[in-house]
Amino acid sequence: MEVEVAAQAVHAKIWPEAGAAGDDRLRQSYHDVLMAQLPQAPEAIVDIGCGVGMSTEAFQTTFPQARLTGVDLSPYFLAVAQYRQQERQATGEIPVTATPIAWHHGAGEATGLPAAAYDLVSICLVFHELPQSAAKAILREARRLLRPGGHLAIMDMNPRSEAIQKLPPFVFTLLKSTEPYLDDYFALDMEAEFEAAGFERPTVTLNSPRHRTFVGKVI
Ligand SMILES: C[S@@+](CC[C@H](N)C(=O)[O-])C[C@H]1O[C@@H](n2cnc3c(N)ncnc32)[C@H](O)[C@@H]1O
Repeated sequence: MEVEVAAQAVHAKIWPEAGAAGDDRLRQSYHDVLMAQLPQAPEAIVDIGCGVGMSTEAFQTTFPQARLTGVDLSPYFLAVAQYRQQERQATGEIPVTATPIAWHHGAGEATGLPAAAYDLVSICLVFHELPQSAAKAILREARRLLRPGGHLAIMDMNPRSEAIQKLPPFVFTLLKSTEPYLDDYFALDMEAEFEAAGFERPTVTLNSPRHRTFVGKVI
């Protein structure tokens, strides 16, 4: 019940004119980057840290032909994700032709999914929650999951954005009460870590006033 509302509230003011549609627009801006940069529509996608499925559902709209797998540490979130899919099916929000999403309980660091089986691994709004050891392990796992020519895409907060640079220190401290690894994330050299995990140097696109998207191709 809470997660969708929380996401909508947090993202409502990214673009002042978008109002409550900020979350939808954020996801759309991410997918616009992917559609511009991927050579073709991916057939198989893994969404690591899918939560209650909002990021996975967005892929269902953008790439309705794709086979989608959502992975999360929380079995509870995955149960909610499955319930949301049933509801969306019942109300006709999902195209009848869309392939059902496979929900997979596991850690992004070691998903247990087959190697070299996916065209795109997406990690959306997860990296800011990770200690650096987990972030590095997830990059290596994404590399393992991808087929030759596959891509890894990561969308999250942009620590260099003005909105985040100008956060008053007490707000940043409050933020850390729910996001304890923000310092780890802000200090991570993402481009270098992509390369260390076996990817080409990624592109970096600012897809919102305070978010950025990395897209890297496997070497
Ligand atoms: C902020 S939510 C983002 C959810 C979703 N991707 C979205 O865009 O709405 C972060 C999610 O990452 C999951 N998560 C955090 N660490 C993880 C890990 N190591 N492996 C898998 N999932 C993880 C959490 O359980 C949570 O559901």
